[in-house]
Amino acid sequence: MLVSIVDALAGKPGVGEQVTVQGWVRTRRDSKAGLSFVNIHDGSCFNPIQAVVDNNVANYESEVVKLTAGCSVKVTGKLVESQGKGQSFEIQATAVEVLGWVDDPDTYPIQPKPHSVEFLRENAHLRARTNLIGAVTRVRNCLAQAIHRFMHEQGFFWIHTPIITASDAEGAGEMFRVSTLDMTNLPKDDKGNIDYSEDFFGKESFLTVSGQLNVETYCMAMSKVYTFGPTFRAENSNTSRHLAEFWMVEPEIAFANLSDNADLAEAMMKYIFKAVLDECADDMAFFQQRVDKDCINRLENVINHNFERMDYTDVIEVLKKADKKFEYPVEWGIDLQSEHERYIAEEYVGRPTVVMNYPKDIKAFYMRLNDDGKTVAAMDVLAPGIGEIIGGAQREERLDVLDKRIEEMGLPAEDYWWYRDLRRYGTVPHAGFGLGFDRCVSYVTGVQNIRDVIPFPRVPNNVKF
Ligand code: 4AD
Ligand code: MG
Repeated sequence: MLVSIVDALAGKPGVGEQVTVQGWVRTRRDSKAGLSFVNIHDGSCFNPIQAVVDNNVANYESEVVKLTAGCSVKVTGKLVESQGKGQSFEIQATAVEVLGWVDDPDTYPIQPKPHSVEFLRENAHLRARTNLIGAVTRVRNCLAQAIHRFMHEQGFFWIHTPIITASDAEGAGEMFRVSTLDMTNLPKDDKGNIDYSEDFFGKESFLTVSGQLNVETYCMAMSKVYTFGPTFRAENSNTSRHLAEFWMVEPEIAFANLSDNADLAEAMMKYIFKAVLDECADDMAFFQQRVDKDCINRLENVINHNFERMDYTDVIEVLKKADKKFEYPVEWGIDLQSEHERYIAEEYVGRPTVVMNYPKDIKAFYMRLNDDGKTVAAMDVLAPGIGEIIGGAQREERLDVLDKRIEEMGLPAEDYWWYRDLRRYGTVPHAGFGLGFDRCVSYVTGVQNIRDVIPFPRVPNNVKF
């Protein structure tokens, strides 16, 4: 019976049964007694399974003892309880079929030893075969599945918002242009501006920076919705927290205010972290041992405590009084820098903190203006060890106030005509947020650099693979 390694290690379909597993060799060790111990992984779980092959197996001398890391094999044999420590079951092999050899074992990049993350990034096409990236991949999948499950249980609809858009959702001008025009010979109009009328869409278009504006339209009919997909930012931030292409989860709730929004963010984070602890125990044990000894504690801390909520204005006061020299000076009106966010979440509060009501001048046009006229109903969730992980807001549902904000910020009102229509036809208070999914994976695993938690990172000057 063909089984995955996760099932074989759990003793399925039963002790003494004949099973077949398929996978890749991680290590091989031979004993003097004519036995070869071949460790095989197939991605289904953290641990490989050991196949014990004795020299009665037909191709023992001709093939089995020549197996090296990375070879692909199909192994059949009896499933037995293992004597070895740290493993539950092993296979007493009766047949080993080699499906693919490794051309030149000495130059095969993924040797059975720890590799630096920098080296693995250069070999992104092979790195999923390592313990580290395998574990990241399972945790990333678990988080994504848990998000969909949470949303579904809460009655949200998953809306597939477009990747190609005509409007700037954040109004920050950090967009990648999409075009079929001949870049070496761009058509210009009378004023010397690029003429997009001959372009594919007959209009200038971009990769989306956020699905929010589109998902808001569905929120104004379906009440509870979310989008979850790739988003793109042409910001030249060469940091361990930024990608040019990253995944974002963006729920949007109708008839809701900022406090409802913060409640949802907190419930979602707790739910998905619990799923990881429940479903990826072996992977998390590996991260705890090899990557970040605090990672499991950190998740338990999030699950077991309420998030702190603080006003931006109070955060500024705390930072001013802090017994700490910040690189970036603190005064009311600044955008919080990573050092400030981390001080608040890590040192001052010691657990995730929702900072609310930021100055309007540093936030996006769609955020709801507060009665003080100088702050907006924005919220960022700051997490110890990483800083901002969620950004969100109650949306401006009043057309006149929205129009003033669009004008104040010098944005092209005509581009937002459909967004404005939502305020003309049955507007309601509503709120939503975006969870940076890759930052979340980094937070959960303790893997410091965001480039190591997404299969193929897109960053400035790097679009290999
Ligand atoms: O704070 P941001 O820019 O918010 C929005 O895009 C809103 N439209 C979301 C909404 O309300 N629906 O981004 C949200 C989150 C950030 O908190 C951060 O975790 C992540 O997305 N993020 C990035 N992650 C990786 N690389 C980047 N360049 C990122 N920029 C933002
Ligand atoms: Mg933000």
